[in-house]
Amino acid sequence: MKSLDAQSLENARQLFASGDIDAIEVGTLKGLQAIHTRLFAGLYDFAGQIRTVNIAKGNFRFANCLYLKEILVVIEKMPEGTFEEIIAKYVEMNIAHPFSEGNGRATRIWLDMILKKRLLCIVDWQKIGKEAYLQAMERSPVNDLELRFLIQPSLTNAVDDRDVIFKGIEQSYFYEDCD
Ligand SMILES: Nc1ncnc2c1ncn2[C@@H]1O[C@H](COP(=O)(O)OP(=O)(O)OP(=O)(O)O)[C@@H](O)[C@H]1O
Ligand SMILES: [Mg+2]
Repeated sequence: MKSLDAQSLENARQLFASGDIDAIEVGTLKGLQAIHTRLFAGLYDFAGQIRTVNIAKGNFRFANCLYLKEILVVIEKMPEGTFEEIIAKYVEMNIAHPFSEGNGRATRIWLDMILKKRLLCIVDWQKIGKEAYLQAMERSPVNDLELRFLIQPSLTNAVDDRDVIFKGIEQSYFYEDCD
């Protein structure tokens, strides 16, 4: 039996290999829920569902579930015109952390789809180490400068390069066992 994470990784690969990713709405909550559903359907009973419990990581408590739905409506309307705006939107979505588990993996795909649509590039996640990424994410609610400096040099316009996409998904899943 494959582990849950291995099955989810296979689902993520399938999402891209099938081309279904291109039918998912970009930059919205609905789109993020669709990604989460595809990664975790049959693995988590809350796949695609907004959480109704409060959660924290390290010293950081994510958005209170009492007003989570309201802030998600605001976040999806945030602008995506520049790299800085897109990262700001990604940071706010991470602070919201809409799902009980699997936010990191789903939201990194969501970020890539916004970058692809707006700036014709994606993140080459292979170029970003796990420690550096997680440190920048921990820092991001206070200041997103570190995250921008980490991601910007790792942007690539090889948006249709399967090697970049699939190795990037593996790297994104590799960040996961660190919590
Ligand atoms: N202290 C922190 N403050 C803010 N954000 C954090 C912190 N620690 C981790 N994160 C973000 O939360 C994500 C983890 O959230 P969650 O466990 O829901 O997602 P996951 O997909 O299961 O894990 P992962 O993102 O590690 O693959 C990290 O990838 C990172 O983006
Ligand atoms: Mg996790």
